[in-house]
Amino acid sequence: MFLSRSTGHPYAEGVLMTPKIAPAKGKLGILTPGMGAVATTFMAGVEAVKKNLGDPVGSLTQLGTIRLGKRTDNRSPKIKEFVPLAGLNQLVFGGWDIFEDTAYEAAVHAGVLKPELLTKLKPSLQKIKPMKAVFDKNYVKRIDGPNVKTKGSLKDKAEALIDDMQTFKKDHGCDRLVMIWCGSTEVFHRAAPVHQTLEAFEKGLAKNDPAIAPSQVYAYAALKSGVPFANGAPNLTHDIPALLGLARDHNVPVCGKDFKTGQTYMKTLLAPGLKARMLGCSGWFSTNILGNRDGEVLDDPGSFKTKEETKLSVLDQILQPGLYPELYKDLFHSVKINYYPPRGDEKEGWDNIDIFGWLGYPMQIKIDFLCRDSILAAPLVLDLVLFLDLAQRSGMKGIQEWLSFYFKAPMTAPGLYPEHDVFIQLMKLKNTLRWLKGEELITHLGLEYYD
Ligand SMILES: NC(=O)c1ccc[n+]([C@@H]2O[C@H](COP(=O)([O-])OP(=O)(O)OC[C@H]3O[C@@H](n4cnc5c(N)ncnc54)[C@H](O)[C@@H]3O)[C@@H](O)[C@H]2O)c1
Repeated sequence: MFLSRSTGHPYAEGVLMTPKIAPAKGKLGILTPGMGAVATTFMAGVEAVKKNLGDPVGSLTQLGTIRLGKRTDNRSPKIKEFVPLAGLNQLVFGGWDIFEDTAYEAAVHAGVLKPELLTKLKPSLQKIKPMKAVFDKNYVKRIDGPNVKTKGSLKDKAEALIDDMQTFKKDHGCDRLVMIWCGSTEVFHRAAPVHQTLEAFEKGLAKNDPAIAPSQVYAYAALKSGVPFANGAPNLTHDIPALLGLARDHNVPVCGKDFKTGQTYMKTLLAPGLKARMLGCSGWFSTNILGNRDGEVLDDPGSFKTKEETKLSVLDQILQPGLYPELYKDLFHSVKINYYPPRGDEKEGWDNIDIFGWLGYPMQIKIDFLCRDSILAAPLVLDLVLFLDLAQRSGMKGIQEWLSFYFKAPMTAPGLYPEHDVFIQLMKLKNTLRWLKGEELITHLGLEYYD
């Protein structure tokens, strides 16, 4: 039986002993393969918050609180004061991109943040210059750029990435690093024999196996270096036995995939609500217009297929048609993304939802979400890197399912279905933080208030 460090009460059977957390001392280097709209909005945003030019809205680590103990205890500290997270002033940014633009130029090109704000941040952003990328046009067909590593095999390129990380760490005096994929969505591919074991993967790197995608070379380099890795895109990347095994063997925490932001976030808010009330759903038609570089890349059917897989899986997992055939077995679900340059990053997503109630009577819900993609994604990048760093300092390794809250297609242990309901995900995240600090887990049973 395990006892809570703070209360002395026993934990439920099977709950592991709370770990010792190393302090968040020194600088934390955040490395992003891909320095486009999301990565630069994140970097610029952190710099803006540091200069009091804006608030970190959308970030759980910066604004969220966590209830501890009983509802009558009035203990709800801020998350960043409860667990030892790196502070914003400790963060240093770097990355790789196929284009040579500095973070300042890339942010101007992305057109997400206002030029007046970017001018104020220019001194810090223009120092962030992209390192040469590992790139393969077969995996991202709509773009091409000059800032790429050309020499040697994929193995040589992986070693060059490892060197890049070591040089970055030394040059910036970092204590630790975290890598988060903010690169384009790669074309759809399934795990092949080369992805099954580390030995096969390393052989594949040496002989340039075409089944190894560039994002997998970055993930391999990170894990080999003991650097936590997150995947913000829906790519296969590290969701393969070879790299998950490497993460566990090197004691590195990982998570993914695909930031849960606009339309899918709305879906994971609404669908659990429909199911909670046992309301049926016969159709969910989702379409988007998007005009940024991500939209351009997703205009390629191969990249869109990768995205479509993660977007489509959500409803099935939440609504569980196998358990509720009378409500969801005939659900028709369709997701489209249309590249429409005039809108830039300011996406518009429409949903038409055909639902039914008592005696099968039909009703409709329409959603028109005029969102800003990178404004929604940037705070998720911040939370993920801070939590992954916390996980590593706490000795947690492999897939961090408690970070599912942030992803459209949460990674799980083999054979385990992912939890998509955002409120269950949030409960799991907060209970993990309570567990890390030896606080009692909150079950919401609450019978003690009525004794
Ligand atoms: N913004 C959101 O709400 C959101 C939500 C979910 C997922 N995503 C995903 O996040 C990723 C980034 O989105 P974005 O809007 O910043 O896209 P973007 O096109 O603005 O930026 C991606 C950058 O990655 C670079 N790149 C591509 N392949 C690379 C490689 N092999 N190495 C280094 N750089 C590479 C591109 O040159 C580009 O600059 C995309 O995969 C997108 O699908 C975004």
